Amino acid sequence: MKNIWVIANWKSNKTIAEALDWISKVGPQIPKADNLKVVVCPAFNALSEVKKAIEVGGFPLMLGAQDLSPFGLGAYTGEEPAELLSSFVDLAILGHSERRKNFGETDEIIAKKVEQTLANKIIPLVCVQGEETPVPEGCKLVAYEPIFAIGSGNSDTPENVNRMANLFKQRIDSDLKIIYGGSVNSGNVKSFITQEAISGVLVGNASLDAQEFIKICRTV
Ligand code: PGA
Repeated sequence: MKNIWVIANWKSNKTIAEALDWISKVGPQIPKADNLKVVVCPAFNALSEVKKAIEVGGFPLMLGAQDLSPFGLGAYTGEEPAELLSSFVDLAILGHSERRKNFGETDEIIAKKVEQTLANKIIPLVCVQGEETPVPEGCKLVAYEPIFAIGSGNSDTPENVNRMANLFKQRIDSDLKIIYGGSVNSGNVKSFITQEAISGVLVGNASLDAQEFIKICRTV
């Protein structure tokens, strides 16, 4: 049975108190299954407390960062290096379209970030926006996120997502795992994860609400 990823991208939301409330509601409700990988990606403020809450609760939840530095340790004011994050997170979202658009991230910067994750045992999840987006060397998990579908309520069709996933597999590696992101919710998640080439979902807005996220995990 294939592994299915359900990844919550909270973006710039949730205080520590709100984050802990979500963990206390969602943690106990996640179905325990070896092939279900549920990851929560809070903002940096809450990583440490969320990690503790997951450990104390013994919840089947992995922790992710929404980004990290393209550099190692050193004089890089404001950056979060993989070497420091690796004691908290299992995964990092890289190359999200919001970072490309608002922070000028280029494919070269994203490739450097992937190198940093791989050197520090963090799984890189690289977001691609279309057929031409490059997938850096060593990246085995990719999120296909067409820009029109993000936060719009207008998701791509499952058939097109499956087609895109197969294109990436053919172009890069048949073992590449492709997940889908863009207006995923409890009502449409099944249509995506039942496609043969799709290995999960990256969920923004709908992940903020604990009950909605629990429904998504149960459906998956
Ligand atoms: P959305 O965001 O689910 O709110 O569309 C997805 C994402 O940006 O990863």
